[in-house]
Amino acid sequence: MTTTKPRAAKAKRSTKASKVKGLEIDVQSAGITKIDTPALVVNLFRGVKKPAGATGAVDKALGGLITQLIEDGEIKGSAGETTLIHTLGKIKPSRVLVAGLGPQDKFDAQVVRRVSAEVVRFLRRKGISSAATTAHGAGIGGLDPQLSGQAIAEGAHLGLYKFGVYLTKSGESTNEFEKLTVMELDKDRAKSIEVGVKLGCTIARASITARNMVNEPANHMTPSRMAEAAQKVATNQGLKIEIMDNAQMKKMGMGAFMGVAQGTDEPAKLIVLRYDGDPSNPENNLGLIGKGITFDTGGISLKPPGGMEAMKGDMAGGASVIAAMEIIGQTKPKINVLAVIAATENMPGASAQRPGDVVRAMNGKTIEVINTDAEGRLVLADALCYARKQGITRLVDVATLTGAMVTTLGKACTGVMGNDDTLVQQTIDAGKKTGEKFWELPMFDEYKDLIKSDVADMKNSGGRQAGSISAALLLAEFVDGAAWVHLDIAGTSTSDKVSGYLVKGASGVPVRTLAQLASDLADAGPPKKSKSKAKAK
Ligand code: BES
Ligand code: MN
Ligand code: ZN
Repeated sequence: MTTTKPRAAKAKRSTKASKVKGLEIDVQSAGITKIDTPALVVNLFRGVKKPAGATGAVDKALGGLITQLIEDGEIKGSAGETTLIHTLGKIKPSRVLVAGLGPQDKFDAQVVRRVSAEVVRFLRRKGISSAATTAHGAGIGGLDPQLSGQAIAEGAHLGLYKFGVYLTKSGESTNEFEKLTVMELDKDRAKSIEVGVKLGCTIARASITARNMVNEPANHMTPSRMAEAAQKVATNQGLKIEIMDNAQMKKMGMGAFMGVAQGTDEPAKLIVLRYDGDPSNPENNLGLIGKGITFDTGGISLKPPGGMEAMKGDMAGGASVIAAMEIIGQTKPKINVLAVIAATENMPGASAQRPGDVVRAMNGKTIEVINTDAEGRLVLADALCYARKQGITRLVDVATLTGAMVTTLGKACTGVMGNDDTLVQQTIDAGKKTGEKFWELPMFDEYKDLIKSDVADMKNSGGRQAGSISAALLLAEFVDGAAWVHLDIAGTSTSDKVSGYLVKGASGVPVRTLAQLASDLADAGPPKKSKSKAKAK
């Protein structure tokens, strides 16, 4: 990942070009004005009057045309701004695209991801299928060349993404954007960029795995299909996998999960993926737990019909955990990672659980089911218990858990809650590297009253107050002293508009951050014994 340069640099170099369905990205060491390409992409910071570096060289070759356009106010250098210039034979590239990078003091890898996405989508709209680009930010921007290559690849792949599986006629653009060449004259820097491009392609490919799963309608993406998707990842990346069915889960005492699963005829699955990156140090571990509700009707506490179709995405947590394992299997951090995905539908079938039912989770704790629509915390309770039973002492769960989260933070950032300041901070910091934003919500003891029950150890709904926090407080009852972080991605798992590298529909959040976190934790080494409250069982 971004901090593990030595490992990434050692990565095998199979081919020169990296391909993710449709788009190929390669790196070339050549002068930019000499390359034969339908479009050469250069960049400009906001407020720059006289471009330098690669943009300056192109400007000079074009007789000061870019400077003129800046003077005329046509090019401002705002982030995402795109200006197409025809070169009329003055230089080898037939067009130059000037991409704005925004203000230099706000520049980082996230800007490169966004600009890269905007650029390739712009070119696709124009029917241009290939381009050459400078490594944005690697020059005047001061960005590490490898990171620039990674961000360009992530932005381009994620920005071009379309979920077109069920469109029998293709959309407005019949042209696809197929080939991007990153140009860098210096051979050593070109090598670094290439390593970054490869890593970025791996990461984007996995994010797209998650997006595809989430965008897939629920009649296709059933719990069994989720298990098949996980199986495919396990086979391709050499991970261990175990898929458990209803009977096995009942036997393990997963009463909370099975209470939700009893409302549907669709078999539930507990999907367990294992990556052993540090087998001689079992205490160096991380558990990734995902909510895999392949459709959430609400159950007997049925949801209103308006917008219910969005509930096909209620397995986004599980999908992102599977996809993160796809990256981890390739980047190979020195840490043991266990992924646990609790997959079922939440349907109001004839045998569905009723409001007022009491269920018992794997750790023996009882829960009064006040609202069958608060099903995510029920399935996660047992998944967390399972991970603890496997000896996991650091847990991160990912779930589209509460509508309240969308109300609180909207779609700009993911809500974080947890019981361990270090792990919370490590998660937020990993997000700063990937450009996925996180914001912590409090877990004050005062909120615990919200889920007190008269008939069981707790109830599964805390009512209208602090809905995201009361849900997290229920999960906290099942982590048994382990360091734990909960990510509520109800808002961030989908996007309602095209923006930067996001397109309408599934976002792939927080796949890249989970993989980054695994890598960061591996680099930091096993958690300090004195600080960890949890014992491996
Ligand atoms: N899957 C939903 C949460 C959700 C809502 C995700 C909107 C994405 C968009 C979850 O299972 C749910 O229904 N939560 C209830 C909990 C309530 C009954 C305590 C909610 O948020 O309304
Ligand atoms: Mn629900
Ligand atoms: Zn749900």
